[in-house]
Amino acid sequence: MKFTSFEQYKQVYQHSIIHPEQFWDDVAKSFYWRKPWENTLNWNFTEPDIKWFQGAKLNITENCLDRHLAENGDRPAIIWEPNDPTEAHRVLTYKQLHDKVCQFSNVLKNNGAKKGDRICIYMPMVPELAIAVLACARIGAVHSVVFGGFSAQSIADRIKDAECNIVITADGGFRGTKDLPLKSVIDDALVQCPSVKKVIVLTRSRTAVSMIKGRDVWWEDEIKKVETQGSPECPAEEMDAEDMLFILYTSGSTGKPKGVVHTCGGYMVYTGYTFETAFQYQQGEVYFCTADIGWITGHSYIVYGPLSQGATALMFEGVPTWPDAGRLWEIVEKFKVNILYTAPTAIRSLMSFGTDIVKKYDLSSLTKLGSVGEPLNEEAWHWFDEQIGHGKCPIVDTWWQTETGGFMISPVANVTPLKPGYAGLPLPGVQPILVDENGKEIEGNGVSGNLCIKFPWPGMLRTTYGDHERCRQTYFSTYANLYFTGDGCLRDDDGYYRITGRVDDVLNVSGHRIGTAEVENAINMHSSVVESAVVGYPHDIKGQGVYAFVISPERHEDDDLTRKDILMTVTRIIGAIAKPDKIQFVSGLPKTRSGKIMRRILRKIAEGDTANLGDTSTLLDPGVVDEIKEGAL
Ligand code: PRX
Repeated sequence: MKFTSFEQYKQVYQHSIIHPEQFWDDVAKSFYWRKPWENTLNWNFTEPDIKWFQGAKLNITENCLDRHLAENGDRPAIIWEPNDPTEAHRVLTYKQLHDKVCQFSNVLKNNGAKKGDRICIYMPMVPELAIAVLACARIGAVHSVVFGGFSAQSIADRIKDAECNIVITADGGFRGTKDLPLKSVIDDALVQCPSVKKVIVLTRSRTAVSMIKGRDVWWEDEIKKVETQGSPECPAEEMDAEDMLFILYTSGSTGKPKGVVHTCGGYMVYTGYTFETAFQYQQGEVYFCTADIGWITGHSYIVYGPLSQGATALMFEGVPTWPDAGRLWEIVEKFKVNILYTAPTAIRSLMSFGTDIVKKYDLSSLTKLGSVGEPLNEEAWHWFDEQIGHGKCPIVDTWWQTETGGFMISPVANVTPLKPGYAGLPLPGVQPILVDENGKEIEGNGVSGNLCIKFPWPGMLRTTYGDHERCRQTYFSTYANLYFTGDGCLRDDDGYYRITGRVDDVLNVSGHRIGTAEVENAINMHSSVVESAVVGYPHDIKGQGVYAFVISPERHEDDDLTRKDILMTVTRIIGAIAKPDKIQFVSGLPKTRSGKIMRRILRKIAEGDTANLGDTSTLLDPGVVDEIKEGAL
């Protein structure tokens, strides 16, 4: 949706909340449906039961691929830049991407995949990852992409939860100086996963892998087989609007990640609409999102959102700091990138390398910038604006979640007046409210509270896979008739929203969501650990760091060795992304008489704010606090 003025945005916003169904009807009509819907929306937040565009039939890949072929088949759909700058980049036009998706869809079918099957994808950031995702969608299989940094145990948990029957992976992958042994990790995971009957392995790093007879097949061999079978076409499976499109696991406040479920119709409408609206995307612009497809940002804003709008999306295999901290700027110059969408942690990290390296590159092609994942602090905002945008590019600070499917609160580029540190105003169709602890709405401006959404939007999660009750409890039971985001938020005098961070036990480390309970479970698996408590603390680059208080009376006499052992355990159980930054050994934890850990106190100690611990009189053993304070790292 394009806007020419802020006034116009405000009018459309008002209309969208007064007549939401009419608003979404109009938005949805710009997509290709095989059959239109009978009802725009049926909903209640109690169960919750949410259905958008019921009765409609579609396939999302026809919107992302087929519908662009006639007029824009030769336009680049995906530009891929490898990890190593000396390796050649690749460009796939819409026509080429369509053909490759069809081919791989046929590979999936040849390997027994059918509509409704769950397929786990564990791949490096290569175009074949996008192809695999789209091929699943084309045949109506449900993809569950697992980020390449998760451990064998995490993958096994996700495969078992979704009962996947196929895994798509690669021999290995590259990220910076690291070689990721993807197939070998999958082999370890599959020891626990009898449901998996086939593993399709792409050649990327050509590291040695063990291919198990009858189970493992090479991607390239399978493609050759379908080439000899004749037709490169694969008709898209007809899906109901509310059929499942994918599952993506995300951390919450319990020990077990949950599978957030998105459905075909609503998610398509929402990602396409929000992509075009927030970035005011114009045909022909080169759009570079630095996220990994293993996270929701990559799903919604590398694959589905941009492709449904016929955009050119640039995907990058590597990391911003290798071979040096000019890597992103080099890519911007090389491909004349117009829109750069990245994360605060990357901005802060690159900022720390100074501006000389930035000045080496021509960034004049940039017209719009974006940020996601955590609050973009003002210092980083200004650096991004001045050094990268040269003061002429709006920064869209997009607030949203795995569960929301797409942007919720975000400036509209070149339309919404910007305020550093603020995600700004809700996009048309989104109805945020702030509530106090009792769920009472906090009205007016210049207030803070817990951020909820009071009306459905098409991209919202429908359930958590295999456990609807958990979905209800996590998001819809805290406050009656509201979706609770888990975020604290301030609304200033102009009605602008500023996200202040999670109010639950979820950490946001480098824009990645990590549940403290999950990390505690992993630490507690270590043989010498009796108990642990994990909290976050402010970290200059990562936003939040992970601080673990650990009771380990019989540990090795060398504390550092025990620390390393614990880190190894966390890496094995969850993955390197969840490794604590600090581990403090303690003899006890501050607990109430009912045995509840008082995290508030631990958080203060981790933040270095030991002077203001508040009331400790309700603790079972207040003495433990002094000891922890003294040993703080
Ligand atoms: O706390 C908010 C933070 O990231 C959480 C969602 O994490 P995840 O589901 O992993 O999705 C990340 C990418 C959408 C939110 O609850 N968050 C996300 N974007 C912002 C943000 N916090 C502040 N400002 C943002 N722009």
